[in-house]
Amino acid sequence: MDEYDRREFLSLSLPSFLGVLTALPSLCALATRANAAEGRLPEDGAMHWEAFLEAVSKEAGKQHLDAWNQDSYVQTISKLARRLHLEDPTLLDALAQIKTRLVNGKVDFQYLERRVDFSLCLVQFDEGEIIRPHDHPGMTGMILCASGEIETSNYDPIEMANVKVSEGHQLLKRVGTTVLKKNEISTLTAKARNIHTLKAHKPTQLVDIFTPPYDKEKIEKSNWFSLSPDPITGQKDVFEAKAE
Ligand SMILES: [Fe+2]
Repeated sequence: MDEYDRREFLSLSLPSFLGVLTALPSLCALATRANAAEGRLPEDGAMHWEAFLEAVSKEAGKQHLDAWNQDSYVQTISKLARRLHLEDPTLLDALAQIKTRLVNGKVDFQYLERRVDFSLCLVQFDEGEIIRPHDHPGMTGMILCASGEIETSNYDPIEMANVKVSEGHQLLKRVGTTVLKKNEISTLTAKARNIHTLKAHKPTQLVDIFTPPYDKEKIEKSNWFSLSPDPITGQKDVFEAKAE
């Protein structure tokens, strides 16, 4: 669109003034967008939904650069997510809609945004519901707890000399267990914490951002794991696991 600065407005000739008039609809559209991004924000600086999506999109676009650092990226979008206004009408509507499906005996998923560079999904658990251990090949993930309370454990594949592993099994090291409450966040990257499991202590709603998003290839490469209930001898966080 045409852009006009203050000086141009103050020194307009009649033809230029008429030009501005023709540009008014787009100027109004710009003002409306700016208002949407800034005007309705709570005073604590929280981000509303559209501003949040655009900020994540800008960061997610950097994945195509050679220098993309996944750890920095998940930290950056975590900071953005901590600023997300959880009472934003768009998010509240989506959370209210998915809540109608709560008592169906399984975890609910609903995409709120699917873009080339990332996707954003609501995930809802009833109390006690579990997502078994699984990986996210080549992906980063950021999980924001929007309501409820959920335990998450993350694992990394490891190899240990002198440890004999049962045939068809591998070793997974538990690298963290956290109980997430409202506004708390868990992250994973392609190289760290990529395998996780979740168990809801209360009815819980999560906002998940996957970067890059799932596609057919990533879904095919994804694995579910069965973990031995007890760690291997002498290691409190190392388990035998079998990809299913
Ligand atoms: Fe996951």
